[in-house]
Amino acid sequence: MAHLADGDYHSGEALAKTLGVSRTAVWKHVAGLEEVGIAVERVRGRGYRIPGGLELLDEGRIRAGLNAGATAFLDAIHLFREIDSTNAELMRRSEPPPGCGNVVLAERQTQGRGRRGKHWVSPFARNIYLSMDWQFAGGVGEMEGLSLAVGVAVAEAIAAAGGGDVKLKWPNDVLHGGGKLGGILVELSGDAEGPCRAVVGVGLNVAMPAAAAEGVDQAWTDVAATAEGTAPGRNALAAALINSCLPLLAAYPTKGFAAWRDRWMACDAYANQPVVISSADSRIAGVARGVDERGALLLESAGQTQRISGGEVSLRVAP
Ligand code: BTN
Repeated sequence: MAHLADGDYHSGEALAKTLGVSRTAVWKHVAGLEEVGIAVERVRGRGYRIPGGLELLDEGRIRAGLNAGATAFLDAIHLFREIDSTNAELMRRSEPPPGCGNVVLAERQTQGRGRRGKHWVSPFARNIYLSMDWQFAGGVGEMEGLSLAVGVAVAEAIAAAGGGDVKLKWPNDVLHGGGKLGGILVELSGDAEGPCRAVVGVGLNVAMPAAAAEGVDQAWTDVAATAEGTAPGRNALAAALINSCLPLLAAYPTKGFAAWRDRWMACDAYANQPVVISSADSRIAGVARGVDERGALLLESAGQTQRISGGEVSLRVAP
C-alpha cells in the first residue's frame, strides 16, 4: 500500500520483491485496494499505480504538525486502516487521564456514525475521520454548547490549514457554499451531575471520490474544492484539527460556550434567514437569530424568540 501511495508505477515483480511476498499476493493486495474504492491502474510492461497517489495517515507527520499547546493535552494517537467508527473505538477504550485526550483516526470507517442515527460515508484514505475524548468533572448538562464550540474550532482549523473559509449551520454542520464539508458528532456518557466523558468525532470531506459520494444524501463539498490554492493534505488537516480542538476541550469547563459564542455567530450560515426546525413530531418556522450563551438556537417566530436545544432536531432553509 505505502509503496503505491507515491502515484508512480511499480511492477508486480518489484512489489513482490520489496514486500517479500508472491506475485499472487501482490495481485490480491491490489484487488483489496480496489475493493475499498481506490482505483489502481495497470499498464503492461510498467506495472501498477494509483493515479495522483494517496496521502496515507502518518503519526509522525501528524505529530510534526502539532503545536506545543496541543501536545501538552495529548495522551495518545491511535491510527487504524479500517474501523467501524472512530467514536465507537474511543468509547470501547478506557477514559483518558484527567487533563488529556486520546485521538483516534482511521483511513476508513465501515459504520461511520452521523447525527440523528445517519450513516457517515467514509471511503478509504480520502477524507478525515477523527475522534478525541475528554473527561470532565462536570455533568452532562454542562456540555450543551460543546459541539457548537467544536464547530468553531473545526472552522478555524480548516482556515489555518489553508482549507478555505467555512460557515457553520446550527447545531454543528460545517458548510462551504451551501455544501456540507464536515460534521461533528459529540457522544456523552456519565452522570448528570458529573463526572462525564465526551467523545468528539469530526468527519471532514477532503477529496471525496465521486463513487463514494453517491451514498451522501445531501449537497456536499470537500477541501479539494474549498481550498484557496493547493489543498492541504490529510496529515496537515488532522494536525490542525487536534491543535484547535484539544485546547478547547481543556478550556471548556472553565469558559463554557460563552467564550466561543461570538466566533460561532461570525460563522453562522443562516443568520437572520427564514428557516424551519424539524424534529420527529414537529416543525417550527421562524427566523434564525443566532445562538444563546449555552448554544441554543434563537428562533424568532410570531414576534417571540424561542430557544431551541440541539438534540434530535434539524434546521433547513424555509422553502
Ligand atoms: C454529522 O452527521 O454531521 C456528524 C458526522 C460525524 C462523523 C464523524 S467521522 C469521525 C467520527 N466517527 C464517527 O463514527 N462519526 C464521527
